[in-house]
Amino acid sequence: MLRPQGPAAESSFDLMKLSITIMIVVLLIVFSIAAYVLVRFRRKPDQREMPEQVEGSFKLEVLWTVIPLILVVVLAVPTVKAVFAAGNDHSNDKNAIKVKVTGHQYWWEFQYTDYGVTTAQDLVIPAGKDIAFELSTKDVLHSFWVPSLSGKMDTNPDGTTNRFSFSAPNEGVYRGKCAELCGPSHGFMEFKVKSVSEAEFEKWVNSMKSPAVLPEDPALAEKFKSQCLTCHAMGDMPDMSSAPNLTGIGSRESVAGILLNDDTGVDGAPVLENLKTWLHDTQGVKPGNKMPDPKKDMNLSDEEIDGIAEFLAGYTLD
Ligand code: CUA
Repeated sequence: MLRPQGPAAESSFDLMKLSITIMIVVLLIVFSIAAYVLVRFRRKPDQREMPEQVEGSFKLEVLWTVIPLILVVVLAVPTVKAVFAAGNDHSNDKNAIKVKVTGHQYWWEFQYTDYGVTTAQDLVIPAGKDIAFELSTKDVLHSFWVPSLSGKMDTNPDGTTNRFSFSAPNEGVYRGKCAELCGPSHGFMEFKVKSVSEAEFEKWVNSMKSPAVLPEDPALAEKFKSQCLTCHAMGDMPDMSSAPNLTGIGSRESVAGILLNDDTGVDGAPVLENLKTWLHDTQGVKPGNKMPDPKKDMNLSDEEIDGIAEFLAGYTLD
């Protein structure tokens, strides 16, 4: 929030700076006057009589009514302007990229309606373009938030959709959060926004559409199909929206949104290790998540789980 990377976040940050500046100025003036009065009018050691009692001052009363009024106007005008600008959702803008965001306990689904592509956890967008979001939820109230790019927007369980837009002028990876308590793994309901060049975005869309692949070992492929692909979709398979789409999962920034695929960071590990951690103990990584346990519920052996983790880690986008 304090390092805005796009126009929507910058306008919020400007409002913060304006209000904090006004507050500091008011604070300094009020405290200086208070300090002066405390020193100047304090009781002298030999003073016994009551000081002169003053009551009512038309001049002062006008002054301390008009000054706050001016400050409120100075705060209100840019705030109202920014709020209306934030309501501009770009949903009818031909140049905007339309993305349907669906909140799930505890992951994010992103559907690119104009491209026929669905993905999860990594929202890939072209830098500088307006992204028009349409937000809803599959279960409870979540809130979609990318602090460095924009404000929050709720996903409502009552069937209504919320719309808003933001853009990321600079290429880079931005951290996204769920900002509404939605269950035991609310704090792990993270996602990433990857802002890439237009050419890279087109390439990504095309590779997302390439046909689904399966593990090489036929027995494992059969298990994977019957146990995993009944909920998850990949490549050109139709999406069921009941579990995250797995296309190119080996190229993502994280596993399950929270295990960072970055062995250079403090908390990160290579994608294969993260996939193994996840598949061997999904409830340990994300308590309360809705995925059946690969071992207990799907009867997969440790070797099979490792084999699937290896396959998924190698399932990258070219
Ligand atoms: Cu979803 Cu908090």
